[in-house]
Amino acid sequence: MKSERAPDGDAAHGSRFDPVNPYWETFLDDAGLDMTGARGNGCYIETPDGRVLLDCLAGFGTANLGHAHAPLLARFAHALQHTSVNVFPFECAQSQLALASKLLALSGQRFQKVFFATTGAEAVESAVKFAMTATARTDVVAFHGSFHGLSMFSSFMTGNPFWTEALPWKPGNVHHVDAASFAALEDLLSSRKVAAVVFEPVAGSSSAQHWTARTSARLAALCRSTGTKLIADEVYCGLGRTGSWFGFDAIGMDGTTGGAVPDMVAVSKGLTGGLVPLSAVLMNDGDFDAVFGAPGKAKVQGSTFGGNRLAMQCGLIVLELVESGRLVENAAAMGELIARSWRNASARA
Ligand SMILES: Cc1ncc(COP(=O)(O)O)c(C=O)c1O
Repeated sequence: MKSERAPDGDAAHGSRFDPVNPYWETFLDDAGLDMTGARGNGCYIETPDGRVLLDCLAGFGTANLGHAHAPLLARFAHALQHTSVNVFPFECAQSQLALASKLLALSGQRFQKVFFATTGAEAVESAVKFAMTATARTDVVAFHGSFHGLSMFSSFMTGNPFWTEALPWKPGNVHHVDAASFAALEDLLSSRKVAAVVFEPVAGSSSAQHWTARTSARLAALCRSTGTKLIADEVYCGLGRTGSWFGFDAIGMDGTTGGAVPDMVAVSKGLTGGLVPLSAVLMNDGDFDAVFGAPGKAKVQGSTFGGNRLAMQCGLIVLELVESGRLVENAAAMGELIARSWRNASARA
């Protein structure tokens, strides 16, 4: 399915994707990824030319129930029939309450508030705004190799210059360190200018590198001792993917061994099974009140579609289906199976 001419510079115009992104044509053709007309079916993608592909990316982490999950589609179709207004504050409070309560229950009530946003990047940026407001500090630390999204500030938190090198500006308040380099981290945090450290318990990109119980406890202790908020970006690794509901639990950062859990956790992707955009930040009362607790400050963060009813209902349906299908336990079992197969294969090699 090669295109007849390479969409290169001006020549790109005239490609079948012209109004959206003409450069896709060669990229998709070269990668054999033209999925026009493809159908999702569980963990498979069925292409119009008869190929059945195993979607190892699970819809970039969104399809935690699989593609075209019939019970999800049926229940969401039912939610679509409601005639109540979809955006806040018209009838959203009830659906927000239901989903927030569910998320807090899944976290074992280790957080008390949920702030809803739309994308993963927006959730991470929202968490940073809460941290900056709560600490009255200006700076943020993230890690080399991390990915936090591509909105303006999240691009600069992302620890790979590939995503920002084309931009002629960068903020002066974002610092990157190596996850292995506590000395650099201690140095930065001792300045007491850092509002938040943002980390991925298990990296969505960067070969799924993960923190350990020991290194994450040290990270949390350092944040506590310097009054720095610790934000777990679980946009990719959260909500069951690691075999635990939260990635920080999967790495043993469960607060039971003297260590602390993160101050805030951002989740998205699998929250609505890939149907509608939704993200959420779990946090404690104190950090929430820093933004919403005082009259006149309540507009510091929010968006038109943040917490919209359809997204709330979809999120609740997905979490219930993941729970009733015991999919978190299944992820743990599958992870163990894969790890065991690798161990056996490398022992044989
Ligand atoms: C860890 C992590 N954080 C943030 C994001 C950004 O999410 P979104 O693309 O929904 O803005 C991603 C997206 O892949 C991610 O993997």
